[in-house]
Amino acid sequence: MSQKSHTHAQWSSRVAFLLAAVGSSVGLGNIWKFPYMTGESGGGAFVLVYLICIALIGLPILMSEWMLGRLGQKNPMSTMQQISGRLKRSPAWALVGLAGILGAYLILSFYSVIGGWALAYVKYAVTNTFGGLDNDSVGGLFGGLLESPTALLGWHSVFMIMTVGVVIGGVAGGLERAAKTLMPALGILLLVMVLYAATTPGFAEGASYLLMPDLSKLTGETVLAALGHAFFTLSLGMGIMMAYGSYLSDDVNIGRTAVVVAVMDTVIALMAGLAIFPIVFSNGLDAAAGPGLIFQTLPLAFGQMSGGWFFGILFFVLLVFAAWTSSISLLEPIVEWLEEKSPLSRTGATIAAGLATWALGIATVLSFNLWSGVHPLGVFAMFEGKTIFDLLDYLTSKIMLPLTGLATIIFVGWYMQRDELRTQLNMSSGAFSVWYAISRFITPIGVAAVFIFGLLH
Ligand code: PHE
Ligand code: NA
Repeated sequence: MSQKSHTHAQWSSRVAFLLAAVGSSVGLGNIWKFPYMTGESGGGAFVLVYLICIALIGLPILMSEWMLGRLGQKNPMSTMQQISGRLKRSPAWALVGLAGILGAYLILSFYSVIGGWALAYVKYAVTNTFGGLDNDSVGGLFGGLLESPTALLGWHSVFMIMTVGVVIGGVAGGLERAAKTLMPALGILLLVMVLYAATTPGFAEGASYLLMPDLSKLTGETVLAALGHAFFTLSLGMGIMMAYGSYLSDDVNIGRTAVVVAVMDTVIALMAGLAIFPIVFSNGLDAAAGPGLIFQTLPLAFGQMSGGWFFGILFFVLLVFAAWTSSISLLEPIVEWLEEKSPLSRTGATIAAGLATWALGIATVLSFNLWSGVHPLGVFAMFEGKTIFDLLDYLTSKIMLPLTGLATIIFVGWYMQRDELRTQLNMSSGAFSVWYAISRFITPIGVAAVFIFGLLH
């Protein structure tokens, strides 16, 4: 990938683009967040709403972001500025790009802390800490990590340095090449975990918990969570996919590529769920354990299965890798923006952005220990008991991403010319009509309805 968006650089190949898009989308969202949200939201009903959100909301917005980026050929803010200018619309549309950059900053601040947990678990795996763990001691291991501000801060710092290191050097070299082997490896290892889970007594219960919707469990909160996660998991509403689209050549079929990315992302998330919930039920663990869910269930499995030491190392290394390819995609737009809007060089901008994100991450580190009792907006009923980490997660996933996504799809569906969209998407007229109708009506109404219903729940 080029370092400067305005040079009209392009991906070296379609595969390189696909890899970068999958690298950004497949991450902690799939393996850490999706299972714990499913567990907190009562299982299959959440999954069903999530799948509907991916298909009817995530997919059209993913296509829209790539298309806007390819038309604008600039950073997200300038792209929105330029296209809205050409269509004689308000320059305020550039704010959509700016909101995305802010969202990326807030998300990366806590994403890096969780990436640090994964790093800590690589160490535990290597030192064979999982061997012989039981239900209580897995909780103790995780709780011990969370209790220590210095340990969390140390791992968060290492993860941030890894992220900055890659972004300084440009993404093109090693990471892209490594992703080509490591991402498929992650898929295969998840399959191994699912097969292992299938041998545990709780498999049927776990699988049906994930896949059988109990609609009585649906609440406004659950639906809003599913919507927010659809944005988070596909890296939408942050200008990231728009920036990736700006390096895209005209012969890439946006619709087909978007379907591939969305399907791969979804399959990885479902496999993570299928690996985790059977272990939860087999061992009488709590499905609603929250952010610690995978860090408690999987070590238990690794401690019991044969070859568990090896698989444990492999799994957490691959998890770090998935998180890493996502975190560089979160840092990139902040750096690009800083570089263009300030006198800083690329290196200076990367270090400044990394430091600023690292500093905000300290608030998340402390949310799990010294500040676990600090609930800044606790006076409002909807924020009761929420730590700073909880609030950052809420603000980004449930408010900022849906609103930016809504603005994007309204812009594309209602302000852009039908013919231009048709040419860009290069679909058959039947498929295009379906896409156009969904993008104009179902997607925006869906986002708006879920958003309002979820906030009022
Ligand atoms: N999509 C990534 C994941 O699922 C997270 C992410 C969000 C990455 C936003 C980039 C931008 O883990
Ligand atoms: Na994802």
